Amino acid sequence: MKRLGKAIILLSIFFYTNILLSAEADTKIKLLSPTNMAIVTQEVSVVIGEIKGADAVELVINSKDKHTLKIEKNTFYDRINLKSGENKIKISALNKGKSIDAIEVKIFYTKDIKAKNNPKEYSFFYFHTMLAEGGECNECHDLKLSIDKYELKKGDRGLCFNCHDERLDLKYVHGPVAGGACLSCHNPHGSENEFTIRYSGDKLCYFCHEEERMKADHLSKLKPEDAKKTCENCHYVHGGDKEFFIK
Ligand code: HEC
Ligand code: HEC
Ligand code: HEC
Ligand code: HEC
Ligand code: HEC
Repeated sequence: MKRLGKAIILLSIFFYTNILLSAEADTKIKLLSPTNMAIVTQEVSVVIGEIKGADAVELVINSKDKHTLKIEKNTFYDRINLKSGENKIKISALNKGKSIDAIEVKIFYTKDIKAKNNPKEYSFFYFHTMLAEGGECNECHDLKLSIDKYELKKGDRGLCFNCHDERLDLKYVHGPVAGGACLSCHNPHGSENEFTIRYSGDKLCYFCHEEERMKADHLSKLKPEDAKKTCENCHYVHGGDKEFFIK
């Protein structure tokens, strides 16, 4: 009996600390876009973040402009105009006027992506152009579908094809493109890679075409100097008019 009592106490402590820990994790700001320390080439940045347990979010741009944002479905967002060079964005989450979490996000804005004085410790971030140009969240999300989440409008296929061409004019369409699985290669809000691609270079292809098999069955059959090329040196990604979408 004594031992059982001890076990119950230990278990209660275990669950109690877990509840405390998860409650704490929930009230941290989670930044979805852009990444901290991002270099961007678009003058307008769309900041998207998630937070639980807050009733407002305050955003201060370069210690001057203050925006108070509302929170909907544990999500907040803002469109901010950047000055050239480094911008410091302070984001605080409030509950009844008291700060429950705060982060600082640095964004470096440059028109010239190749400029020599772009800071080395930053990495690139490319927004889906439509967002930077004022496109609304409800082009892709339907806020009526859930009480606490940014749910997607029904049907992934329609999501992108409302605005983008289905490319059915191409004779050979790449499997995932034909299937409307745009999101397997593209991030919907933006990413570290140009064209909002999820992975850069050949890594994108190896996400689905097994690297070992490609090397053994395909690259090994190419001339050695050709095998060093990237997949995209020879193949179009969405499809093409030649078989295997050869360029
Ligand atoms: C072009 C379509 C598109 C637009 C526009 C868009 N989103 Fe999204 N969003 C998505 C998709 C698709 C996902 C699903 C996540 C994924 O596949 O990476 C998502 C995921 C999210 C999530 C995470 C949802 C979760 O599961 O918790 C949030 C939050 C979010 N979006 C907020 C926004 C906000 C705020 C805006 C407007 C500023 C916005 N989105 C605009 C397509 C879009
Ligand atoms: C409300 C209209 C709209 C929707 C919906 C939309 N896009 Fe876009 N997208 C645009 C516009 C406008 C541009 C910029 C001009 C262009 O390249 O066509 C763009 C550009 C792009 C680009 C080129 C890179 C860039 O941002 O300039 C990619 C990749 C892209 N969209 C992918 C997607 C994917 C994937 C989806 C579905 C999750 C999607 N888009 C949904 C309007 C939209
Ligand atoms: C297999 C990966 C992959 C899939 C799937 C994919 N894309 Fe792309 N997409 C890319 C890559 C890589 C680029 C940049 C290089 C290029 O254009 O060849 C790109 C570029 C783009 C661009 C900008 C350049 C252009 O061609 O206009 C748009 C817009 C775009 N994709 C939309 C889409 C849409 C919409 C879908 C879904 C029907 C889709 N993509 C599916 C990999 C993919
Ligand atoms: C999201 C998964 C996915 C990604 C990422 C992807 N592919 Fe594919 N790919 C497929 C599917 C599915 C097929 C169709 C199945 C098949 O025909 O073997 C296909 C077919 C192909 C084919 C034609 C094969 C044939 O037999 O007709 C080529 C060529 C190809 N992919 C090249 C690429 C290249 C190059 C990349 C990177 C830029 C890439 N793929 C990235 C899923 C993907
Ligand atoms: C030097 C040009 C070249 C490069 C580089 C190249 N391919 Fe190909 N690929 C071809 C040609 C030509 C064919 C069609 C004939 C064949 O099967 O060899 C082909 C066929 C394919 C096929 C269909 C046949 C199969 O083996 O499944 C896939 C998938 C494919 N390539 C994916 C890739 C991927 C992924 C990469 C990068 C890792 C890549 N290719 C790099 C030229 C190239």
